[in-house]
Amino acid sequence: MVYAAFRSIGAYAPKKILSNEELSTMVDTTDEWITKRTGIKERRIAADNEYTSDLGIYAAELAIERSGLNKDEIDMIVCATISPDYFCMPSTATIISTKLGLKNITAFDISAACTGFVYILSIAKAFIESGMKKNVLIIGAEKLSSITDYSDRGTCILFGDGAGAAVISATDNKDEAIIDVHTGADGAYADLLMTPNGGSGSAHDSLDQEAANCFMQMKGNETFKVAVRTLTKDVVEILNENNINSESIKHFIPHQANYRIIKAVGDALKLREDQVVLTVEKYGNTSGASIPMAINDIYEQGRLKKGELMLLDAFGGGLTWGSALVPFSPLK
Ligand SMILES: CC(C)(COP(=O)(O)OP(=O)(O)OC[C@H]1O[C@@H](n2cnc3c(N)ncnc32)[C@H](O)[C@@H]1OP(=O)(O)O)[C@@H](O)C(=O)NCCC(=O)NCCS
Repeated sequence: MVYAAFRSIGAYAPKKILSNEELSTMVDTTDEWITKRTGIKERRIAADNEYTSDLGIYAAELAIERSGLNKDEIDMIVCATISPDYFCMPSTATIISTKLGLKNITAFDISAACTGFVYILSIAKAFIESGMKKNVLIIGAEKLSSITDYSDRGTCILFGDGAGAAVISATDNKDEAIIDVHTGADGAYADLLMTPNGGSGSAHDSLDQEAANCFMQMKGNETFKVAVRTLTKDVVEILNENNINSESIKHFIPHQANYRIIKAVGDALKLREDQVVLTVEKYGNTSGASIPMAINDIYEQGRLKKGELMLLDAFGGGLTWGSALVPFSPLK
């Protein structure tokens, strides 16, 4: 039997910091309001000439280097993004594969918003376990600043740019294998969080209106409630189905949307503070990049060790949700 192992992590955060203070000169808000309601203090913003693929490539190069593999051993790249370099095509994954100098590999993007990283983890696991691929590079990369309306205080305070990547490889050692990945979706809640224009389903408004509606729009308060309910339910299910007690979780790594959401889920699961990984304060919500950026943070701080069990949990537009039980299994 072939299993899939989580071998390595890498991430990249753009240099430019957008603080709450600076945002409060752009819209009617305050550092105090943002901190109290979200836990976010600052977020990173990519440069004008820095695209989603550029963010992804920095993260990917680190993840490949740390995996101990030669980059030519990568046989598939999957990128989760809602802010691709180009609308429709080419995919950001193919641009990254070319920038990495990789030819003749499988490369494609998926759209599952903030749950994107959990979705691509499930894809990597399935391709590896079926024997179709051996070393899959998964990347969550977002330049959300390109689809954020900086005149809307309900959304612009939340989102930031960044990327994270991981290498998932085939192994015959069950002890180092990804234990389980859950993914789900319910389009009935599509209008909670969406970019209404730019696709074949858009209303054909004036060009100005059409451009404005390409930005993210969100019903924040309703999204908040559904997020807490869905995240908690999904995590309880994956733990029960795998007979794993929350005490065995070394690192709970939720999607970094809002500190209050994370706290509510952590409390519902009776997790201790030292089990919960938080990066929302410094990066805000980076959608599909948020979980791998958080994993990278604890890795670089020396807090993530071989064999430790991670519980990932995400929720996002669509609606989509997902969770995963993943031991960290580096080769070296
Ligand atoms: C967006 C969010 C922070 C708003 O916090 P909230 O406590 O729900 O606030 P509400 O939307 O109920 O608004 C409360 C008041 O604050 C105001 N407000 C909204 N944004 C504000 C801001 N940035 N600064 C100051 N006031 C703001 C509202 O206009 C409202 O004013 P009113 O009472 O006079 O009408 C919160 O709903 C949230 O984080 N939701 C989840 C979002 C999310 O995670 N999305 C991504 C999913 S992956």
